[in-house]
Amino acid sequence: LRHLLTLEGLGAELLTEILDTAEELEHSLRGPDKKLPLLRGRTVVNLFFEPSTRTRTTFELAAKRLSADVLNLQLAASSTSKGETLFDTLKTLEAMQVDMFVVRHEASGAAHFFAQHAAPGVAILNAGDGRHAHPTQGLLDLFTIRRYKGPDIDCFRKLRVAIVGDVLHSRVARSDIHGLRALGTTDIRVVAPPTLVPAGIEQMGVSVHHDMDEGIDGVDVVILLRLQKERMLGAYLPSMSEFHRDFGLTRARARALRPDAIIMHPGPINRGVEIEGDVAYGPQSLILQQVRHGIAVRMAVMAMILGQASVRTRPRRRSTR
Ligand code: CP
Repeated sequence: LRHLLTLEGLGAELLTEILDTAEELEHSLRGPDKKLPLLRGRTVVNLFFEPSTRTRTTFELAAKRLSADVLNLQLAASSTSKGETLFDTLKTLEAMQVDMFVVRHEASGAAHFFAQHAAPGVAILNAGDGRHAHPTQGLLDLFTIRRYKGPDIDCFRKLRVAIVGDVLHSRVARSDIHGLRALGTTDIRVVAPPTLVPAGIEQMGVSVHHDMDEGIDGVDVVILLRLQKERMLGAYLPSMSEFHRDFGLTRARARALRPDAIIMHPGPINRGVEIEGDVAYGPQSLILQQVRHGIAVRMAVMAMILGQASVRTRPRRRSTR
């Protein structure tokens, strides 16, 4: 791994290695000492052009637990608000000998832009770009599914997974689908009103359902998605009460799930819209476990890119900068 921009194209072997590394790191931090020296002396910058609670804080904790120095750039207070371009922002921060940028941006492709222009040896991690990809969310979702449906990696082949809600605007849905498909899941159901399903999504190897009760019937995993009003830009915005009635995980729908089905949501949740509040914190929900798993998974990705693997395969080039 040089950067992590998307899960598209990553094979089962690499995904499994990331999940296994996350398991090992989580295990080694179970005691009172929550620090490992793997990234000592390295500098990580969190560069968030869009709001975030879970991703930004768990990336920061992950980097700190690996002993890296971490900077969190407040974009509202940065010179991008004075017109500085993404390229100039990148080069300015690179001049401070940064090793890794964690980038979230509202534009699909922003993380690829950074990766294209990053100096040799500087790594880019995509923390969510527009509707395109949220690869560490996809990885932590795979980690959570394996933890509760595994431990055998072959568990993915037998799974029936429903991804419900605003798939059209969801980078999480795309990353989850790429990851699940790579690990062998064939029964992936996209459940949404026709206006919130991207054209041609069947080509990703999923089936499309416009009836929630039919779509979640007999599934092992339900992944709910937030209605992303900020990306709808005046296009179709369903009434919240109608959406909840037709596509929300209500108490009644939760009761009809298999008793061993798990309920997931990347957060933030809209209570009473895609999920009822007490279902979100009910016995089948893993929403908070997903947040916790985000730390181990992000540690694994950072350690694999900047840690021992990078020392073996890529000489550092600080002297040339
Ligand atoms: N799941 C997720 O990306 O949440 P945040 O927007 O809070 O980071």
